[in-house]
Amino acid sequence: MVLEMGGKILVTGSSGQIGSELTGALISRFGSSNVIATDIQSPVRNDCRTASLDVTDRDAVFSFIKKEKVSTVIHLAAILSARGEKEPALAFNVNVNGMRNILDASVSADVGLLFFPSTIGVFGAGTPRENVPVETITRPSTMYGITKLLCEQLGEYYSAKYELDVRGMRLPGIVSYRAPPGGGTTDYSIEMLRAAAEGRGYSCFLKEDCRLPMMYMPDAIDSIMKMLEAPEDRLKHRTCFNVMAFSFSPSELEQEIRRLRPEFRVTYTPDERQLIADTWPRSLDTSAAAEEWGFAPSYTLTAMVDDMLKHLTPVSRRQ
Ligand code: SER
Repeated sequence: MVLEMGGKILVTGSSGQIGSELTGALISRFGSSNVIATDIQSPVRNDCRTASLDVTDRDAVFSFIKKEKVSTVIHLAAILSARGEKEPALAFNVNVNGMRNILDASVSADVGLLFFPSTIGVFGAGTPRENVPVETITRPSTMYGITKLLCEQLGEYYSAKYELDVRGMRLPGIVSYRAPPGGGTTDYSIEMLRAAAEGRGYSCFLKEDCRLPMMYMPDAIDSIMKMLEAPEDRLKHRTCFNVMAFSFSPSELEQEIRRLRPEFRVTYTPDERQLIADTWPRSLDTSAAAEEWGFAPSYTLTAMVDDMLKHLTPVSRRQ
């Protein structure tokens, strides 16, 4: 099943960091009458239909998908890594029960295609740190990683057992300037860029040499669209593709920012989020995504920093 013109596309979590941009890309490609943007509170946007949908409310999910004759679900609603450690029961409920509700409702209403984002958080103790292959040791140490690994496995299970084409990719930290990220460990990068653009210093909650895999939002959106439109028979993997564009540490990002803002300074005061980052790899092998559905990110770290600062700098500070 490939995403086709005409069917209704339901987006959950559409007010989040990725949803607020992916929803626009789906509207551009498939038309505003075919996209329904939902979140726990009805999203504020005027380019498509919006509704409130709590993915943990099983009855609501079943009746919504059936009533709206949904053919594709883009399931983005989730609790990220740092917030998940503070509220593990909430993370389990949203990430696992929410996914299960979406899967079961999709099967019962003959949905053809379901996309969800997995994460570098599925890796942990025993995973190699560099150039991690798709198939490797996955022993996550966070509730977020545990729940997303289960989502990958549930996706494989439902794809094999029912006629539901479930697809997912392990996203790295995503850098973007529109909607703020919601409680992740890689959020520091966006906070740092925002501080630099506004002429402030920044106190970083990760260590200066903590390198993590990252990607700029335009490449994340392009990748998700490509994956949705890839012919199913080309996919050997389904829910566990590794993707990333570049790796950097906080101090490498700081140096890159100083190219354009020489006065910018960062202090380093790692907190409990460093313990999460310590279990994640520094780089991933993305060859399966490249071979099976054409993953090809275009932004380098330098190009990303240039573009972020251009968009984040307040008009009053622009020269
Ligand atoms: N950006 C995510 C997080 O930090 C990683 O998938 O939680």
